[in-house]
Amino acid sequence: MASLEAVAETGMDIVPLYFQRYFATFPGDESMFYNRQSSLGIMVNEMLTALLSQAEGSDWVPTYLRAQVATHHDKGIIPVERYRAALGILIDVLGATAGDRWTADFEDAWRSEADKMYELIARHY
Ligand code: HEM
Repeated sequence: MASLEAVAETGMDIVPLYFQRYFATFPGDESMFYNRQSSLGIMVNEMLTALLSQAEGSDWVPTYLRAQVATHHDKGIIPVERYRAALGILIDVLGATAGDRWTADFEDAWRSEADKMYELIARHY
């Protein structure tokens, strides 16, 4: 949680930063996001909430991810590795936004939750 405070203290909205980076990396995915006004903020917010809740040991996260993977199949062709990249970009953006406030411990903790989450996603894919 301290790591998110480090991001919040900058006063920056990470949603546009996240998708700027995501679409620069995967320009072909842009056309799938046709309802951006409502979907972008929700997606980033739910990715963060799921990672934090998983870290706290909440038991709803695997069920939630199974449901997200199922509904995401209807949005277009999303290779499973794309989920790993999407989580990785989120952590890149958190670190880049927090700047000097970001510590090696924050980095390790988020990367390890992302690895765990990707394993769950790949299991349900
Ligand atoms: C842990 C990973 C992810 C989570 C938790 C997540 C969650 C969400 C949520 C909550 C929404 C908004 C509600 C909805 O439309 O169903 C959404 C929308 C969407 N997500 Fe994800 N997502 C993840 C990864 C990805 C990845 C890797 C892609 C690859 C392209 C993707 C593509 C989309 C698209 C195309 C939409 C709809 C956008 C629109 O209608 O404008 N998501 N996601």
